[in-house]
Amino acid sequence: MYQIIDGKQTAAKIRGEIAVAVAEMKTRGERVPHLAAILIGNDGGSETYVSHKVKDCEEVGFKSTLLRMPATVTEEELLAKVRELNQDPGLDGLIVQLPLPDHIRESRVIETIAPEKDVDGFHPVNMGRMAAGLTSFVSATPAGIMELLKRYNVPLKGAECVVVGRSNIVGRPVSILMSQKGVDATVTVVHSRTRNIAETVRRADIIIAAIGQPGFITADMVKEGAVVIDVGTTRVDAPETKAGWRLKGDVDFENVAPRCSLITPVPGGVGPMTRVSLLLNTLQACRMH
Ligand code: GUN
Repeated sequence: MYQIIDGKQTAAKIRGEIAVAVAEMKTRGERVPHLAAILIGNDGGSETYVSHKVKDCEEVGFKSTLLRMPATVTEEELLAKVRELNQDPGLDGLIVQLPLPDHIRESRVIETIAPEKDVDGFHPVNMGRMAAGLTSFVSATPAGIMELLKRYNVPLKGAECVVVGRSNIVGRPVSILMSQKGVDATVTVVHSRTRNIAETVRRADIIIAAIGQPGFITADMVKEGAVVIDVGTTRVDAPETKAGWRLKGDVDFENVAPRCSLITPVPGGVGPMTRVSLLLNTLQACRMH
């Protein structure tokens, strides 16, 4: 019988721990952590994600600032705003919600955020420090995955881990973290040009699926007893729901789950952990400043 990895419950527990830390900071007369988010345009997904981030901040007692800019904003105007916020001593964390409109270069924006305020961990300095095993902000989803594996006591030393997907936000960083000294998993990254994905994934003790293709990981690709972490959150049509859509992961949950020892659901698995990791990074930033 498989066990569900309950990200929702784990994240709620961690938010409780953060709220206690914030209350203690207040008691000591310290400034509370402050996160600012820049939201450009009105993409539905981005609106939802940013509103969650603001709500999470409120729940744990952080200060948050939401800055909206129109989709027509120029790259220079956005960079000027980022530079201004970099200089604001009352601000600990700064994120620019992605994706950006086509006329704005994502890399220029990310590289303009001060690394010490880059609580998304997307800046090359933070990516590089993370890869080198130095203290850094680790991007929220990889950090959330590592925390879930730790809290569910998943044995990582020497485990065969297959990461499906090589994005800068999830696949690449989580593959680096899993192979780090002290974690010690043996990591394989498979991607769109991999010759035999199914054969490779079948070797895995731990599968981390982060490709954004709903239902991609099927039961025949999963070894009996594997631990499966599903990072996918694709909106699929669901006329029976009020919203008209629901989230579907990269794993064919219904058929894969019976083969697993542990598996994350979608929703309620990695997503809530991503949100709480951003809070942890912001707390870390505040303590460093
Ligand atoms: N878009 C999708 N995920 C993320 C994230 O973690 N941070 C930001 N800034 N934008 C995103």
